[in-house]
Amino acid sequence: MKYKSQKVAYWFFALCMLLFSLQIIYGFIMGFDRIGIQGLHEIVPFNVARAVHTNLLVVWLLTGFMGAAYYIIPEEAQRELISVKWAYVQLISLAVVGVVAIVGFHFNHWEGRKFLEIPRELDFLVVINVLLFLGLILGTLFKGKRQTTTALVLTMGLLFAALLYLPGMIWFDSQVMDSFFRWWVVHLWVEGVWELIMGGILSYLLIKLTGVDREVIEKWLYVIVGLTFLSGVLGTGHHYYYIGVNKIWLIVGGIFSALEPLAFLAMALFAVNMYRKGEKSHPNKIALFWTIGSSIVSFVGAGLLGFAHTLPQTNLYTHGTLVTAMHGHYAFWGAYAMIVLAIISYALPNLTGRKRYQSATGMAAFWLSNIGMLGMTVAFGVAGIVQVYLERKMKMEFMVVQNEISIHFVVLLICATMFTTGIGLFIYDFVKYGRPSDEALEV
Ligand code: HEM
Ligand code: HEM
Ligand SMILES: [Fe+2]
Repeated sequence: MKYKSQKVAYWFFALCMLLFSLQIIYGFIMGFDRIGIQGLHEIVPFNVARAVHTNLLVVWLLTGFMGAAYYIIPEEAQRELISVKWAYVQLISLAVVGVVAIVGFHFNHWEGRKFLEIPRELDFLVVINVLLFLGLILGTLFKGKRQTTTALVLTMGLLFAALLYLPGMIWFDSQVMDSFFRWWVVHLWVEGVWELIMGGILSYLLIKLTGVDREVIEKWLYVIVGLTFLSGVLGTGHHYYYIGVNKIWLIVGGIFSALEPLAFLAMALFAVNMYRKGEKSHPNKIALFWTIGSSIVSFVGAGLLGFAHTLPQTNLYTHGTLVTAMHGHYAFWGAYAMIVLAIISYALPNLTGRKRYQSATGMAAFWLSNIGMLGMTVAFGVAGIVQVYLERKMKMEFMVVQNEISIHFVVLLICATMFTTGIGLFIYDFVKYGRPSDEALEV
């Protein structure tokens, strides 16, 4: 690392690993639930496990993005963070709010709005926390020696993500209105501003790992940002088909969301091209695998599997089935989980000074988790298609169909075990690297 204050990032990454592990545990609780092993039902019923699983996912990814920003921004801006003390205050308060929210879920203190279950009073604490984070990042960026496109796109993504949290905090008596604005958060995050965060991290990693000129890489970044906004904003309409709003959304949502894969395709082409072009072969192959992997898997998970159910004609059948879970897992994994694991893999050797680039566990972690997640996606997909057929075509009862498809959850659990072994190895490596140290400072 170049700046001492980048060490803060390590602790965000550590919290990230902890929350990720918890998320997986709740995934298993649901998986077992689905095959009739329900020992924990009294303490953690399925709906609670689902809320904890999805909210932990969002929190660990945001923690990872914050860690990425604390690592990247000082280096891009060429100065130390404006305050290390406040960054630690922000980390601890983030962890406290997260834990309080998750514990509350177990006592039924939550809102039944998928992904936005955190009760409104805690939302205000989240807002304060994020304001503190943004203050530190923006302060560092604008007091710095330079403002690169990469840093600006990353920061813009984080800033817009914070602003877009607000529409989800408005109270509505109408279910339709509530649903309408819930998508401003959920959709405009993952298919809008989070893509900027991903683009920013991707661009930073490609500059470091391939050695291609910053000018070339950042030109691509403009294309990605353009495509994202062009398609993603009105693409929100693919959630408005059947929620009780104007029928115009069938057309608008259909057309614009069908264009969304282009942004992800651009990202994949961008990464692969830069890798080919790069003459510098950086020794950190593990980080390179996660980086290029993320760009490709996100195109498949978000772009292709998203497209698979985005037209109103298909969504009419697939809406609210396990087809969504299939796409949700692979999209979140490829785009956001993998890019966070990429920046962690890149940053760890620099933060700790231990250059374990050739670690066999690191490579095994990459392959086991990726093959495992691909298997899980297929299991969800097959279960989802069977569900659509039996429930929506054959008009069988919902619960009868759920019993019919439970066998696919056995397959899911086997693949999830492989996935978890991979993540276990990643965390093992993380621990093996040890703590960040001042000796790792490049002078
Ligand atoms: C490895 C263990 C995992 C298992 C066993 C697991 C299992 C599950 C199950 C059973 C559901 C509920 C599906 C339903 O509605 O019936 C679910 C939901 C979800 N999981 Fe996982 N999961 C795991 C890991 C992950 C990971 C790593 C991610 C993200 C990268 C993830 C993202 C999600 C999302 C986004 C949903 C909500 C999907 C929707 O809205 O339909 N899960 N998971
Ligand atoms: C990385 C980007 C993406 C992520 C993480 C993601 C994740 C998700 C998740 C978790 C859901 C369930 C949301 C909920 O019910 O609350 C969902 C729904 C959906 N996604 Fe994506 N998605 C991404 C990109 C895309 C793209 C590019 C498309 C279209 C080409 C798309 C099409 C859809 C559709 C149509 C639904 C609605 C399913 C339904 O309720 O019927 N997604 N996505
Ligand atoms: Fe969407």
